Amino acid sequence: MAAANEMTSGEFPEAVMPSCETREVLVGQKALVTGASSGIGRAVALALARAGADVVINYSSSPEAAEEVAAEIRGLGRRVLAHQADVSQEDQVHAMFQRMFTEFGTIDILVNNAGLQKDAPFDEMTLADWQLVLNVNLTGQFLCAREAVREFKRRGVVREVSCAAGKIISMSSVHEVIPWAGHVNYAASKGGVMMMTKSIAQEVAPYRIRVNSIAPGAIRTPINKDAWSTPEALKELYKLIPYRRIGEPDEIGRAAVWLASDASDYVNGITLFVDGGMTLYPGFETGG
Ligand code: BGC
Repeated sequence: MAAANEMTSGEFPEAVMPSCETREVLVGQKALVTGASSGIGRAVALALARAGADVVINYSSSPEAAEEVAAEIRGLGRRVLAHQADVSQEDQVHAMFQRMFTEFGTIDILVNNAGLQKDAPFDEMTLADWQLVLNVNLTGQFLCAREAVREFKRRGVVREVSCAAGKIISMSSVHEVIPWAGHVNYAASKGGVMMMTKSIAQEVAPYRIRVNSIAPGAIRTPINKDAWSTPEALKELYKLIPYRRIGEPDEIGRAAVWLASDASDYVNGITLFVDGGMTLYPGFETGG
């Protein structure tokens, strides 16, 4: 009979298992980060590579920026691949995963990061604005997560690599819980990401697949440049952040490394808020 802590690839894991030993780095793991040519995705890709992972850099429209990230990762001695794909298109997502499997063999970590904003007052929001944001932010995460889960279930746990059969990290936002006037499509997409992530987590946890979200607050990236590029804007922004500073992309990178590593092996289905307290109802700071 197999010892309690042994699992054969592809088998449904035993119900009673000893806790997983801590292995904090990602050496030998294969990661795919969507939307990795800039902003948070770029920082996450670099952080995973620094922790030892080989990385596929997905990008939609900036090959030069993606190649810069790839070059930096290559410089760290990791394997890297830059791949163009629109994550909202099923055939392109499928082709991207197939290429990753051909070149890297498998996937251990998916960071579903690609996302965009298309802001408008609600009564002026076009159906195209609505659909673009939902297609990329929510459907894109669905399509990539589905490919990853198929591979995780097929392959099962490889104990020399990780205690889990695979890890998915969904990039959500504080706006999975904070309503956002003028950004109804974006907030709806992130609310969807929250429930999709938790539901996938519940369904695939028995296969030793971990699915968690990171919910960044205001992070210094191109998507919200208007909120931090002038002293006046920053002053306004700080009213929303009890910790009184903007976040840096690498702070999300470090959170992603932890969620991808065996150090968080018993963490499944959570949203990790990395927001300087933005979700703490800052309007009540003075007692309300
Ligand atoms: C948005 C940013 C915004 C932040 C906090 C993020 O999800 O993309 O534009 O600054 O939430 O409101």
